Amino acid sequence: MTELDEPLDLPDGSEALAVKSDGQIDSSHEDLRVAVLTGLARRPRSIPCRFFYDAVGAELFEQITRLEEYYPTRTETALLETYGADIAESVGLPRVLVEFGSGSSRKTSLLIDALGEVPAYIPIDISAESLQSAAAWLSARHVGLPILPLIADFTKTCTLPKIAERHARLGYFSGSTIGNLTHEEAKIFLASAARLLGKGSAFLIGVDLKKDLSILLPAYDDGAGVTAAFNLNLLERINRELDGDFELKRFAHEAIYNDRAGRIEIYIVSLANQVVHVDGHAFAFAKGERIHTENSHKYTVAEFQALAHSGGWSPAKVWVDPANLFSLHLLRL
Ligand code: TRP
Repeated sequence: MTELDEPLDLPDGSEALAVKSDGQIDSSHEDLRVAVLTGLARRPRSIPCRFFYDAVGAELFEQITRLEEYYPTRTETALLETYGADIAESVGLPRVLVEFGSGSSRKTSLLIDALGEVPAYIPIDISAESLQSAAAWLSARHVGLPILPLIADFTKTCTLPKIAERHARLGYFSGSTIGNLTHEEAKIFLASAARLLGKGSAFLIGVDLKKDLSILLPAYDDGAGVTAAFNLNLLERINRELDGDFELKRFAHEAIYNDRAGRIEIYIVSLANQVVHVDGHAFAFAKGERIHTENSHKYTVAEFQALAHSGGWSPAKVWVDPANLFSLHLLRL
């Protein structure tokens, strides 16, 4: 968890939390530097996907969610709109809403409308900018809703504010972000979310379904090149923050489906033999050599229920759109 130097400047009705540091300085300059230098030195080369989300990356991701090819956001939104009443009834009780990787919190507003009474909303995100603008946006729509943002890497342990102890909890993990974790990481995440939320909790998780590649591949390689720009922004971020000299024109975005692993894999491919410098270190790329930047695992309903179970949760209900694109799972503890 990152320590807040200054309280977030939040609108009335919300409360800024001074998050206690647990010694981890995630997403800091040093975290980025170490991850990039070790990631570029290892084979296969890889950079963790959490570094996509600097201010530019977070904005590009918002653009991805509005693309015609990118079905997950609008499909999950439609599930919340269509089945909101049923979701609220199945969730039961007024519950403090704890969102992991909350981003812009756009879908959360629909969920809050459906739930009716929400004693507090605790968004957890790695990006302070996203938390701040999301809190401002949400508090204008849900007057009087206490919003207590936590700046944290949701895969690391954190503690909930006191108000969460006075009510039952509902976890929310949208956008199939759980698919960006490996099966093992997802199991560990589910188990730690179970510890954080505690006995009697419910957990609503958006999970992208396995489907035809004619739909899946364009979602990760759109015609307008927004996804490519999002992926390559990682190199621009390295240039900006780590004194890198990546030439963007000499690298390309690549998205493939790994059938055996059941996941989309995102890469940055070197278009030439070239040497790049980062923070005073030289890295030689052969033409065609790749940097792995993200996985996006896809699950059948049964596969995800088995994963949830392995993380200590009981699958309670699942909502799926008519075209079988996306699933919304309700789990219980
Ligand atoms: N959670 C999103 C997903 O897996 C993240 C994402 C969407 C993404 N498009 C991307 C990550 C393109 C990397 C590249 O669908």
